[in-house]
Amino acid sequence: MPGEYNMRIVSIVSQKGGAGKTTIAVNLAVAALACGAKGTIIDIDPQATASNWGDRRQAEFPPVVSAQAARLPQILKQVDKAAWVFIDTPPAVSNTTMAAVKVADIVLVPSRAAIFDLDTLGATLDLVRMGQKEAAVVLNAVPHQGPGAEEARAVIAAHNTCIAPTCLGNRAAFQHAATMGLGVTEYEPNGKAALEIRDLFNWLQTL
Ligand SMILES: Nc1ncnc2c1ncn2[C@@H]1O[C@H](COP(=O)(O)OP(=O)(O)O)[C@@H](O)[C@H]1O
Ligand SMILES: [Mg+2]
Repeated sequence: MPGEYNMRIVSIVSQKGGAGKTTIAVNLAVAALACGAKGTIIDIDPQATASNWGDRRQAEFPPVVSAQAARLPQILKQVDKAAWVFIDTPPAVSNTTMAAVKVADIVLVPSRAAIFDLDTLGATLDLVRMGQKEAAVVLNAVPHQGPGAEEARAVIAAHNTCIAPTCLGNRAAFQHAATMGLGVTEYEPNGKAALEIRDLFNWLQTL
């Protein structure tokens, strides 16, 4: 159910850098657009990776709004025509990420399937629970071979947390698309990365 604002607010958080927060934020926003839903990205990461992606992009949509976490409630009022808002956050458990959790309808926690990444999940999930929200972990950059995803699912299940049914594979398309300011659904519409992102967005729509 939509929260205080008339839109779905998806915050993407993880303590670990490189987990895929920005990749997921920008690709879901592009996927929403392809479905005819207006999506906005709000970038509260001082590293401004999503904002830089927006600068490389030769298109007006989806807009990327660079903001400070303390301004989120006001910024959300300004973008209230958007059907979907994706909030990209810095790699931290902090007041900044808590601000994104607090305003979220849905909290996505991307994680790579490697044990060093999974080890940091607890701290991120604790933050989400402190914000009285539930998280869904999105397994990202899962290697094509090996037991990665299955082992990771077992570790995540031990945290009593929902796992998104779609994992994102380790696919060069995510990197190539980012370089060009595109989503993978634009860069390679029939590729596996595009299929995964569309699946992930379809699942979000069911929540
Ligand atoms: N599924 C994936 N397959 C291949 N490369 C990926 C994937 N997800 C992210 N990357 C790459 O990994 C790096 C870190 O991803 P990013 O989204 O910036 O993580 P975060 O925002 O959590 O720090 C980027 O270079 C990005 O292109
Ligand atoms: Mg990032």
